[in-house]
Amino acid sequence: MTGEQSDAFVFFGASGDLARKQIFPALHAMVAAGELDVPVVGVAHSGWSVEDLRARARESILETGGEDDEHLKSLLGLLQNVDGDYRDEQTFVSLRKALGDAARPAHYLAIPPSLFGTVVDGLRGVGLHENARVIVEKPFGRDLESALELNAVVSRAFPEDAIFRIDHYLGKDEIMNLLYFRFANSFLEPVWNRHHIDHVEITLAENFGVDGRGAFYESAGALRDVIENHVFQVVALLAMDPPAYQGYDAVQRSKEAVFRSMRPLKRDDLVRGQFVGYRDEQGVAADSDVETYAAVRLFIDSWRWAGVPWLLRTGKKLAVSAVEVKVYFKRPPQVLFDDAAANDEPNYLRFRLSPVSEIALAARVKTPGQEFTGTQRELLIHTESDRERAPYERLLAGAMAGERALFTASGSVEAAWRVVDDVLKDHDEALPYEPGSWGPAEADRLAAPYGGWRELDPDAASSPKHPATGIEPKEN
Ligand code: BG6
Repeated sequence: MTGEQSDAFVFFGASGDLARKQIFPALHAMVAAGELDVPVVGVAHSGWSVEDLRARARESILETGGEDDEHLKSLLGLLQNVDGDYRDEQTFVSLRKALGDAARPAHYLAIPPSLFGTVVDGLRGVGLHENARVIVEKPFGRDLESALELNAVVSRAFPEDAIFRIDHYLGKDEIMNLLYFRFANSFLEPVWNRHHIDHVEITLAENFGVDGRGAFYESAGALRDVIENHVFQVVALLAMDPPAYQGYDAVQRSKEAVFRSMRPLKRDDLVRGQFVGYRDEQGVAADSDVETYAAVRLFIDSWRWAGVPWLLRTGKKLAVSAVEVKVYFKRPPQVLFDDAAANDEPNYLRFRLSPVSEIALAARVKTPGQEFTGTQRELLIHTESDRERAPYERLLAGAMAGERALFTASGSVEAAWRVVDDVLKDHDEALPYEPGSWGPAEADRLAAPYGGWRELDPDAASSPKHPATGIEPKEN
């Protein structure tokens, strides 16, 4: 059924947090964009009536900045409710009834992975897996073994091309632009390899904490929550070979090859940290060793990348919220100018992925005057989209249309877990760091041979607040 539009949308976990924060607003936006005009069935074991579900949908949409408009009214009209235990066959019989004539439903499992098997078996029990799609939420497993099990469970009922694994990072415009920028231009390819690139630094920093998600976070930690999926996806898009032809399969193959050539991390490649105060969060153990910060040194053992370190870091309660990639070029082979010693930051290509989208190429230029000295300046492209679609809207609409480009394939998921599997179990303890800092000082040892972690400007270069832009913010 590849390519055919799903004719119903079912979501399990309708009373949950994800539905409230992401799914209802995405459905509302999809209705407004003319992408959703089929029955929408919420399933949960909550004792709710359809009116309760509608009230929750309205509340969620208004809370997240949506308007009380005709689209909201239409969405409420499409909503149906099935209340029941996922272990009870009757729940699936009721779902079948609620779906009426729909023959190609998309089932979204917005539920903990421990329930995937129960729901998939329930769907299969009443034949609701036939001609259907399944959308599964991250985290896809918690290590290699559980990911293999999950893949086995889901594929009991659904073929691979009917499985849509969400990594919401892939639904972000800036992330899609990495693929586009790399392969819509020809100037990068000749230098995009170990001969010209010295190292790559990727930072996904957040200045907030776990925000009431302590219990969930205790079962995850920064390595599982962010590095193994979101950051690895960014690495794969930057490191992949050009897809051999146009289309989903070619992109997936190239990405999967990157995951497969990532060298499994060893204890020494990882520094873990925990912000001071984390243990006081609700749902967090008083002696928790879960990391809220992780810094990683990764190697990709391929012809293109052999010997090039990828330095990755993420953390909660860091100094700023920003996501940035810096790809550092090798220095010129010979020193010709006296300022070379003072020139500590080599040329780089910078991708700011959040909160704004920027691409900048940094190169040295001469300072006017007698001397042959200079400074490094950025050539900056600020990319803006006219209509910024939220990742969930893009992803759910894509899954309903059978477009797999923004989803992860089983081979990639398994290969990514393989990279972190050892260090999930075998690691040094999480070192304390102060909220508002850049994490534990111990992380410096990973980056020190390559010039250390570079400071990340809280303001994007295109922001009027940025010192280099020199634009005064306009008073309105
Ligand atoms: C989620 C993680 O997958 O991604 C969160 O569970 C993290 O802990 C979030 O904050 C980051 O993504 P975004 O899109 O909110 O910046």
